[in-house]
Amino acid sequence: MSASEESIAAFRHRDDLASIPVYRQGKPAPAGRRAFKLSSNENPYGPLPSVIKAIDSTALTTMNRYPDMHGWKVVERLAAKYDVSPDSIILGAGSSEVITELVNALSGAGTEVIFPWRSFEAYPIIVRGSGATPVEVPLTADLRHDIPSMINAVTDRTRLIIVNNPNNPTGTTVSRAEAEQLLNAVPKDVVVLFDEAYYQFNTDPDTELGMDLFRRYPNVVVARTFSKAYGLAGLRIGFGIGPAPVIAEMGKVALPFAVSDVAQTAAVASLDAQDELEERVRDLIAERDRIMTALAEQGWHVPPSGANYFWLQLGELTDTVAEKLTEAGVIARVFSGDGIRISIGTHEANDLVIDTCAAIIHELPAVADQWSPSR
Ligand SMILES: Cc1ncc(COP(=O)(O)O)c(C=O)c1O
Repeated sequence: MSASEESIAAFRHRDDLASIPVYRQGKPAPAGRRAFKLSSNENPYGPLPSVIKAIDSTALTTMNRYPDMHGWKVVERLAAKYDVSPDSIILGAGSSEVITELVNALSGAGTEVIFPWRSFEAYPIIVRGSGATPVEVPLTADLRHDIPSMINAVTDRTRLIIVNNPNNPTGTTVSRAEAEQLLNAVPKDVVVLFDEAYYQFNTDPDTELGMDLFRRYPNVVVARTFSKAYGLAGLRIGFGIGPAPVIAEMGKVALPFAVSDVAQTAAVASLDAQDELEERVRDLIAERDRIMTALAEQGWHVPPSGANYFWLQLGELTDTVAEKLTEAGVIARVFSGDGIRISIGTHEANDLVIDTCAAIIHELPAVADQWSPSR
């Protein structure tokens, strides 16, 4: 029995608590030496300059008041941007809250939620938290969504299917044809969530996939966030777009006032700063491509990434490589026995990633044999 089970045993509690995994935050960079936190897919640059200005001048003076619960100033902007009805939009304290609301609204004990695996660490936690059973469909050998197997996993108990595009942590993307194959095969009363936390970094022409599909299929919900490209991870604001009846039910299970006024003001200012945003996204994509090219030249096999991170599939060498990265000051996200996800950082951090990876493959050439694309 673990320590937490021992202590909770003294209280009446849910029988399935022990089955809920614990979310582990990306490690911080250690103080006192040169090290870069590349463990949480954060934007290495601060918030956009115009966003800081907007917060300074308005939001900081309203902290004595509760925020607008529905965040209308953001909802109206998003409705205009995406040309959808405001009742198709819901805000959350990050898209993790939006995803949690969707899972809680649709599923519960005795039901199932299908998602790819390995994928976003929060999915099994959120699904277990609702009382539902996670149905984890392994990625293909190319570390992509296995669409036929996801379709085969659908049962009468299925309440939700999650598509993570680009997939965290592998960076791999889902094509339009694959998404349509899924949507055409599953019952129309099963909701399909497109979690697009990183879509701005996806240079595929289908990068607006989720919104296009929302317009064409009645059962699509899209989750997006201001945490990544917009650089507002610390403020906690994301949003969902979906069929109005689904959004209304999500509202019932939402935590009231979860999205602060500061976050709402920052989100509106971010939407106004499209040019500044695009410049940063272009820079991060160029940096990602620079790292990927350098690693390929060194002999690494890296799956193509459409996100602000990339994945090293390292199997049993994962911990050894993680140690070497940490020693060098590269603080990455380590999935022991499986692989390592490294976020794209500043130019200086990325130089360190490239140099450290060169040293690692020189010392340990077997890292190149742990995975290679099947095509
Ligand atoms: C795939 C994916 N979805 C959703 C989120 C949630 O981000 P946030 O709650 O900050 O919007 C993350 C964060 O890492 C993610 O990787």
